[in-house]
Amino acid sequence: MSSAQAITTTTTRSFENIRLRLTGNEGPFGDWRDDLVRDGYAIIKNAIPRERADAYANDMYSWLEDFNLGFDRNNIKKTAREEHLPIINEKGMCWWYSLAHEDFVWKMRAEPGVVGAFEKVYNTSDLIVSFDALNFTFPDRDDIQPNKPWPHQNQNPDTHGFRCLQGLVNLLPNGPKDGGLIVCKGGHLLSERFHEEMKSEPRIPGFFHEWYGYTDAGMKWLADHGLEWEKVCVEPGDLIVWDSRTPHYNLPSSSSRPRFCIYTCYMPVSDVTQEDLKRKKEAYEGYRTTSHWPNANFVGAADATRKGKPCPYNRHRPTRLPQLDENAFKLTGIPYITE
Ligand SMILES: [Fe+2]
Repeated sequence: MSSAQAITTTTTRSFENIRLRLTGNEGPFGDWRDDLVRDGYAIIKNAIPRERADAYANDMYSWLEDFNLGFDRNNIKKTAREEHLPIINEKGMCWWYSLAHEDFVWKMRAEPGVVGAFEKVYNTSDLIVSFDALNFTFPDRDDIQPNKPWPHQNQNPDTHGFRCLQGLVNLLPNGPKDGGLIVCKGGHLLSERFHEEMKSEPRIPGFFHEWYGYTDAGMKWLADHGLEWEKVCVEPGDLIVWDSRTPHYNLPSSSSRPRFCIYTCYMPVSDVTQEDLKRKKEAYEGYRTTSHWPNANFVGAADATRKGKPCPYNRHRPTRLPQLDENAFKLTGIPYITE
């Protein structure tokens, strides 16, 4: 599909006519939205049917193996090492090699159970999606630096209110010891007060403006205000969503199981500018990765670095070009460009 085939009609799908603002006072809805309103995060069980989740996990394993560097899913203990893998950082993130635009990644982003959860929150089906990283966390990786806690929120602290709902689709069984997302329950509701009371606290440098890292004093403030951290445990095909104001990070695995997930974040087209959409189009056509913000306010480096030099396995096109149907193509934002 090309941008010439721009959409001309608005969607007529019906919702409950409620766009969530996550003020803590909405609902009850009798579903996962109540968890989201109260806790700042929620689990949508079986957003993707199990057999398709298993197929996506298989796609992720195959993508790693197809680099032909020696990685073998049946011998993770010996082969989940940097010399046998594309570059994956200590937090499990892989942003490079045009992975964000592999066909299987786009298929997963367009899964109706995933997109549908965001439609329900935003009360619209005119959404755009991030071109974000995938996560491959392997146990016992002593060949890369340890994953230390990096508690943060993904929203500029100078802005207030609910602005962005983050998400990840989990693809392998993920219990308490398998690493993965840990969240500070209810932290979204205290975010504005936190930043008011802690405004003199020195800032931890972040890689872009929609990020705030919690110092030891910040963590103490959260604890002193009764907030607790919880590791989110999920099954393959479950979607986790969280308010970008909710403090979070990811834990390393202390089991023998890997963790695979795909970050998926959507926002309404009505929240973004034409300039955002044009920047997003460039990122899409260049097979570039963005942060989780769907308005492409941060486009990452195309090339990974291996031992201080450009990785010799860098590539700038996916191995399987994305084949997008009309619904998936809308998520690129391109059909909404009118100027
Ligand atoms: Fe984050």
